[in-house]
Amino acid sequence: LASIRVDVSAVDPGTQITVLWQGKPVFIRARTEEEIAEARAVDLSELPDADANNDNLGEAPATDENRALTEDGVWLVQMGVCTHLGCVPLGDAGDFHGWFCPCHGSHYDTSGRIRRGPAPRNLPVPIASFVDETTIQLG
Ligand code: FES
Repeated sequence: LASIRVDVSAVDPGTQITVLWQGKPVFIRARTEEEIAEARAVDLSELPDADANNDNLGEAPATDENRALTEDGVWLVQMGVCTHLGCVPLGDAGDFHGWFCPCHGSHYDTSGRIRRGPAPRNLPVPIASFVDETTIQLG
């Protein structure tokens, strides 16, 4: 499948961009220290979906470390497609300070993990990698 490269040099901490890949939105976010700390403080037993849902890994626990693109946790790349019925969730929204899907009320945390609402899975993390300091390749 075709891969694309995305320049993320203008993405400041606490903001995200949305790009289209394979006809679907992909959220690329540079997280703040607070967002990372909040994501990493979560007790995994509270998570409805225990799998990281990360295509770069096999089956793996849904830790934030297993979802973030970079070890420092700053970069989070995920499909912008609600795992309930496919609406596009809103960023910086919801009860868990991550994403909120307004279609039927699914709340995702700052790691993109489903926390409340009808969505069954964490937002999928696609194949992604940094190819240089400011460029992320999807696929
Ligand atoms: Fe997102 Fe239903 S499509 S909650």
